[in-house]
Amino acid sequence: MAKFLVSGGAGFIGGNYLHIMVDKYPNDFFVCIDALTYAGNMETLGPILNKPNFKFIHENICNREAIYKIFKEENFDYVINFAAESHVDRSIENPEIFLKTNILGTQVLMDACRKYGIKRYHQVSTDEVYGDLPLDRPDLFFHEDTPLHTSSPYSASKASADLLVLAYHRTYNLPVTISRCSNNYGPYHFPEKLIPLMIQKALKNEPLPVYGNGSNVRDWLYVEDHCTAIDLIVRNGRNGEIYNIGGHNEKTNLEVVKTILKTLGKPESLISYVKDRPGHDLRYAMDPTKIESELGWKPKHNFDTGIQATIKWNLEHQDWIQNVESGEYMNWLERNYKPKEKKDA
Ligand code: NAD
Ligand code: DAU
Repeated sequence: MAKFLVSGGAGFIGGNYLHIMVDKYPNDFFVCIDALTYAGNMETLGPILNKPNFKFIHENICNREAIYKIFKEENFDYVINFAAESHVDRSIENPEIFLKTNILGTQVLMDACRKYGIKRYHQVSTDEVYGDLPLDRPDLFFHEDTPLHTSSPYSASKASADLLVLAYHRTYNLPVTISRCSNNYGPYHFPEKLIPLMIQKALKNEPLPVYGNGSNVRDWLYVEDHCTAIDLIVRNGRNGEIYNIGGHNEKTNLEVVKTILKTLGKPESLISYVKDRPGHDLRYAMDPTKIESELGWKPKHNFDTGIQATIKWNLEHQDWIQNVESGEYMNWLERNYKPKEKKDA
């Protein structure tokens, strides 16, 4: 049996990771630590909350004292850090919390790993650390040794954390891996991000706000494929290594929005071109050769199957989305969940 700390597990990707892994590995134990910021949603964890190999702890990764106490009590084998402020537009509005959580929070977790010992610390990072590629060079891709070249406070904070992870590996011999993934989409995606936002706007017949002229390109990966890649890296990846994750599903934002409108039977006249994002990255495109050849990872979904599954999920989970839109999700913990210790007492 191995014990995993999953920080940020009440968010989009961490939540999907936990759904899959708690079922897949009944002999392993998963502890989720999450601060439940606006992006954390306990309702996402509802289906696994009472599983015998899962426990939730409401805590902030920046709280050194509390994190050390948890590490001392739990004796983790593996730490997977999903916890982050993740929305680029919010980082442009207010960078400070991004630096605190994404850099200093990472440091606290790694200090705890050093103090109490672990088998592997895994940092969930992003393709945004490489900056962007030009639109007129489809032959170019991000490789693991592409220089860091960030554009937004979000990506700068993620790149800083990556450098700190590599420094802890070299200086303190901390066993680490880093994964850098392209844009995710799928179930439980917070409706401030492009795909779930556009689905909701289309369903309500509201204008779909496309930044600039909609020609920016993102490399879309269905979230389940990201989770299986992380699982392979944590269990079989080489210590000290970085792995790029992506499925070669590059689409312009306009292509994504038009696919959503067509699937929902809505007119393209709903598209509304709005002011561009400052510093807007033009194109992301990952070369995943390393993880494919070393670890045998292959994505199960392409964009065509993934976007249909995502639209279907959104249509079938309007209650989850409406709870987010109304703010009701913030009260879910009190209404539905008693921590295991109290329940058993
Ligand atoms: P998200 O915003 O949906 O979830 C983040 C989670 O972290 C939330 O549950 C939030 O409550 C929690 N959190 C935030 N600050 C915290 C703190 N100080 N202490 C404890 N918990 C805290 O993000 P996501 O989209 O699931 O992204 C997860 C990770 O994956 C992030 O590190 C992000 O940079 C990275 N990533 C995201 C994508 C993507 O397309 N969404 C792609 C590549 C990498
Ligand atoms: O590439 C990985 C990154 O993907 C992750 O590291 C980030 O955490 C994640 O949020 C995502 O960043 P993006 O900025 O690419 O995602 P977002 O959904 O915010 O935007 C996708 C594209 O759509 C981007 O070019 C901006 C554009 N956009 C976004 C919104 C919210 C619009 O045109 N209109 C919108 O309303």
